[in-house]
Amino acid sequence: MRVPFIDLKAQHAALAEPLRQAMAAVMAECAFVGGHWVRDFEAAFAAAVGAHHCLGVGNGTDALAIALRAAGVGPGDEVITAANTFIATAEAITMAGARPVFIDCADDYLIDVEAVARAIGPATRAIVPVHLYGAPADMTALLDLARRHGLKVIADAAQAHGATHGDRPLGGLGDAICYSFYPGKILGACGDGGAIVSDDAGLIERARRLANHGSESKYRHVVEGVNSRLDGLQAAALSVKLPHLPAWVTARRHVARRYHERLSGTGLDLPDDPPWGEHAYHLYVIRVPERDRIAAALAEAGIECGIHYPTALPNLPAYAHLGHRREDFPRASAYQNEILSLPIYPELSTAQTDHVCDRLIALL
Ligand SMILES: Cc1ncc(COP(=O)(O)O)c(C=O)c1O
Repeated sequence: MRVPFIDLKAQHAALAEPLRQAMAAVMAECAFVGGHWVRDFEAAFAAAVGAHHCLGVGNGTDALAIALRAAGVGPGDEVITAANTFIATAEAITMAGARPVFIDCADDYLIDVEAVARAIGPATRAIVPVHLYGAPADMTALLDLARRHGLKVIADAAQAHGATHGDRPLGGLGDAICYSFYPGKILGACGDGGAIVSDDAGLIERARRLANHGSESKYRHVVEGVNSRLDGLQAAALSVKLPHLPAWVTARRHVARRYHERLSGTGLDLPDDPPWGEHAYHLYVIRVPERDRIAAALAEAGIECGIHYPTALPNLPAYAHLGHRREDFPRASAYQNEILSLPIYPELSTAQTDHVCDRLIALL
């Protein structure tokens, strides 16, 4: 039995006809950039993630960079973020003109809030918590810390569509919350896409301007911005998919529960909901000794796994100029050699999930 790491074709096949119809309608109207498809999706997505306003942009990286700039972050500022995230989080901070300050994770991979508190200094302007793998960061503690120090919070929810914090979705927790619609995400477009949501209408208006060449009206550029807009075809595709998001997240949790049942008692470190919210399981990341041997043997058996991410950001050549040592990030540096992402998606069958568990257990 082959178990791919991700199976986009399975999701796409189930929605092929409505996707084709929606895209044909956009093409018939030539509503390629802007227009009602984008506005309708923005309104529906804001409601789905519990925010008042939404701006569609070109991708999740731009969403973060534009939201940071719209929140007033710029050159000379420091922005605190996770050491163990995808590079896009840190790239966005640099794109906004600021300097990323990396913080180690706790043993649940989420940013260590006490370490964040210790890192706050005179140049700190914002915190970018990452809802990594689909698990909500501890927003009660982070928002409280930010409030006490006058910092902005721009959350990276690229992996966390459908995750919850307390009894609410993540979209209202922070000055801005940024999403990616990269095709492999929990809610993915048929190409690149991203969104910024916020309860602050002024921030979204500034972001809208920045994302459209800094213009407040045609050819009236009040600042230099970028070109980063969600296009009509992607908005239409996302509008077809959005109503399925709750069922997809439920199905991911179902797979996660099965992994948990089968793998607890093996001594492996398994992911779980944090005490303050519910995981959306974009990724199911375990820690396993001899990770590379086990990943290779699983691949040999037709089971594809991932590693998210093989090198913590401060240990990458791209950040060598910051002069960090591995010992500065003991958890992220140790976990990069132990983490293994097992296949998880709504269409993964119980037979496939059990097959992954059987093979994995046999290799321990
Ligand atoms: C944690 C995280 N942040 C940001 C991004 C950037 O999103 P995008 O690929 O849409 O630019 C991604 C996804 O790639 C991500 O996983």
